[in-house]
Amino acid sequence: MKPQIYILKNTHLEVHISTLGATLTRMLTKDLQGKVVDVLLGMEKAEDYESPEYIASGAYLGAIIGRYGNRIARGRFEIDGVKYQLAINNGENHLHGGLCGFDKKIWNVGQAGTDSLTLTYCSPDGEEAYPGTLQVKVGFSLQEKALRIDYEAVTDKKCFVNLTHHPYFNLNPEAADIKRHTLKLYTDRYLKTDDLIPDGTFVTATGDYDFTSPASLQGVIGNQGGLDDCFVFNNSGKLIRMAELFDDQTGIKLYVCSDYPGVQVYTGKFLNVKQAKDGKQYGPYAGVALEAQFWPDSPNHPEFPSTLLVPGEIYRKTTIYGFE
Ligand code: BGC
Repeated sequence: MKPQIYILKNTHLEVHISTLGATLTRMLTKDLQGKVVDVLLGMEKAEDYESPEYIASGAYLGAIIGRYGNRIARGRFEIDGVKYQLAINNGENHLHGGLCGFDKKIWNVGQAGTDSLTLTYCSPDGEEAYPGTLQVKVGFSLQEKALRIDYEAVTDKKCFVNLTHHPYFNLNPEAADIKRHTLKLYTDRYLKTDDLIPDGTFVTATGDYDFTSPASLQGVIGNQGGLDDCFVFNNSGKLIRMAELFDDQTGIKLYVCSDYPGVQVYTGKFLNVKQAKDGKQYGPYAGVALEAQFWPDSPNHPEFPSTLLVPGEIYRKTTIYGFE
């Protein structure tokens, strides 16, 4: 089946979504002068996301990530004494649902309206070695100047689930990178990691990592090679504002709200996408990904917020990307 792009539109916002990977391909808002700006990194055509070169880049531009977003150490977990071994596709670890995760699947169209769209995908028992048939539904809806994403899933066997989207933003696409952007995070804590796998402890953000007040990304990129970190929130499953991104050239300000307990902030150090949309190429730091999600490797950290979905329960999570 060929991927199709659906366009959601209201007076403030236009969002393009591909049925391949429930991918956000364009997000058009206005800058201070009223000029329309596409603030998302993406490819030109729906088929471009299927090209071997693009897939090899491992960029996951705008795509949904599942079943388990982020890393699972050595691709291993255990449920009720049964051990599971997932694909190792990132160093020694499992990343973003494996070799053929939800980002590479064609999703079915449920409801499609002018400002809303529902996509569904049924992941068979054993797909990518995860247990259980997982029925997933993702709702996209425009609400004034915001895109709301609602994730729902049910399973027939216990399974770990962590669904997220992977949009990279550049609020001033005329600039080659996002170093001038300022970021604000509504937390001062992130997970301590070793080779991007949490060791179970937390770090209080200081210096270049302190975004409790808006701070330029230049510092953390120049001094630390950027961010690829999961910032954590004590929101007890409540929808809260987590992050804001601002560019002073366009005056565009993005905010992210979610009821997930974390946001992975990835400043795109390894971006390398040739032949992207609008004649562009993306190199390091061309965009910053803000991914609301559960914490990495939580299947192996019983003390982390649980990602275990049990038959009879409904997985429900929401993330909002909005503009001020
Ligand atoms: C991860 C990065 C990874 C990127 C692209 C992000 O979610 O945190 O480590 O390089 O996705 O795959």
